[in-house]
Amino acid sequence: MTISIENTLINARVQRRDDHTDDIAVFELAAADGSSLPAFEAGAHIDVVLGPDLIRQYSLSNAPGATTYRLGILNDPNSRGGSRSIHADLKAGAEVQISAPRNHFPLAMEAEHSVLIGGGIGITPMIAMAYALQAANNSFELHYCCRSESRAAFLDELRQAFGDRLVLHFDDVEAGGRIDPKSLAAARPGTHLYVCGPGGFMDWVIEQGKAAGLPDQQVHFEYFNADVDISGEAFEVYAEASDVTVQVGPEESIASALKAAGVRVQMSCEEGVCGTCICDVSEGTPDHRDHFLTEEEKEDNDQIALCCSRAKSSRLVLDI
Ligand code: FES
Repeated sequence: MTISIENTLINARVQRRDDHTDDIAVFELAAADGSSLPAFEAGAHIDVVLGPDLIRQYSLSNAPGATTYRLGILNDPNSRGGSRSIHADLKAGAEVQISAPRNHFPLAMEAEHSVLIGGGIGITPMIAMAYALQAANNSFELHYCCRSESRAAFLDELRQAFGDRLVLHFDDVEAGGRIDPKSLAAARPGTHLYVCGPGGFMDWVIEQGKAAGLPDQQVHFEYFNADVDISGEAFEVYAEASDVTVQVGPEESIASALKAAGVRVQMSCEEGVCGTCICDVSEGTPDHRDHFLTEEEKEDNDQIALCCSRAKSSRLVLDI
């Protein structure tokens, strides 16, 4: 079955907006009717509904236990409409629909030590994690990698909240600027490594963590965008619940082929990172292209991301 967020939407209001840098704005959202927003854990994100076909995910960056949700959003020059529309339209007092929080990026609170690495706007979930680890009196360090100090958001707060547990890495600072994830991962036994940021940066940190000998379950990551290649050989899809058969062409996604045939597909990121379009597979072998399912889930071959994944078999039967 596909996941639907429609039943869980919450009407929220922008209680406060602060533009931290030229291209990063920080929004504090409260329930529009004054009620409490659902509780959240560190690492959680919400969907923000920006239009009929425009839903984007943003990590919550405030301390778990807060009664508001705080989002830090980069006005991405490569935006397909999401961050641009938020920066232009979401002023203090504006109303917006959001989902309840979901957490695909939970902390392993039993870790002996946690290394949190945020690249650029990928710092946002790391801030919530640092607050949670600090509240639990757990050992951690927070690394913030950014092009320059003038492009970094949240700096005053992070310096004040985390003191020498915060390590800054600015590309334009030569001495001691560059992060070394392999050494950080290897420095203490029982370390768990967490990373969020641009795709290439994350790939590199994950690879370095594994090269340091960390097992998969001690390397945690959440992609918020990805370059995904959806092309490949044509194949057939039978949408079982809708009783519709479609041919998926070499350059189109399963989602677009199904949509063209009138089958409703719930989507959000459209690049394999959010999980909104995940659907059960009854027959056939998926060719997984997403960054959402775990390696184990991919090996099971009983779920597929309709926005980007394809088929290794000539036919898939899907529960949609
Ligand atoms: Fe986000 Fe497919 S729409 S994973």
